[in-house]
Amino acid sequence: MINRPLFFANWKMNHGPSEARAYLAAFLNFFAPHDDRTVAMFPPALSLTTVRDTRANRTDILLGVQNIHSQEKGAFTGENSAPMAHDAGARLVLVGHSERRHVFGETNVEAASKTALASRFGLTPVLCVGETLAQREMGDAERVVIEQLTVGINQIGPAAVAAIVIAYEPVWAIGTGHTATPDDASAMHRVIRTTLRELAGNGSDRAPILYGGSVNRANAKTLLEVEGVDGLLVGGASLDPEGWAEICRT
Ligand code: 13P
Repeated sequence: MINRPLFFANWKMNHGPSEARAYLAAFLNFFAPHDDRTVAMFPPALSLTTVRDTRANRTDILLGVQNIHSQEKGAFTGENSAPMAHDAGARLVLVGHSERRHVFGETNVEAASKTALASRFGLTPVLCVGETLAQREMGDAERVVIEQLTVGINQIGPAAVAAIVIAYEPVWAIGTGHTATPDDASAMHRVIRTTLRELAGNGSDRAPILYGGSVNRANAKTLLEVEGVDGLLVGGASLDPEGWAEICRT
């Protein structure tokens, strides 16, 4: 069950199985169960079962995978499938993260296939959208985000849209120490909400919209208070269990 606010930790390519075990044991000590929010970890795929097993009965902590292939199975060396991720304990999946798009060349159409596949295999897609600095400076930010969103959900119906999570992560804010201002974040969250309603009806109001990009202990509260922000997707500041627990208590 997903309750707002949401606190999602994207570890990216950090914390292999041994580190993940130690991290999780520490985190569980720092963070008591809260039923008024949703906390999820997205470890590297290799650490997923370790995190699941270390979590033990703390099922209030949800698990996600950082990526899946757009097909269910087959000859795709090095890839992980939606059913395998589910089997390893994931219930969420990041789709179209900016590093997938900009480092690995993932397209909006691939993101759409992954979103549809995830929904079929019991993984809640967390569809990530966001403009680059050049796109923002050209006044193109809204158009880019609307297109990522429109294509990203075009293989699923309104009921499935209502069950996904969107993450707005401006590319220029990721790992840079520059966060969006509250006004910029709230303006883009409003655009996303309006677009979702146009495409999938008012039921899509159930889909939370997270903000991500240089969130840390010092700015988490301010960002969470921004109108339209339902939660946070955190990279670097989630890598330390004590600091991450503090953010999750915001
Ligand atoms: P940082 O919090 O390190 O900026 O990363 C954000 C992000 O990409 C989360 O998915």
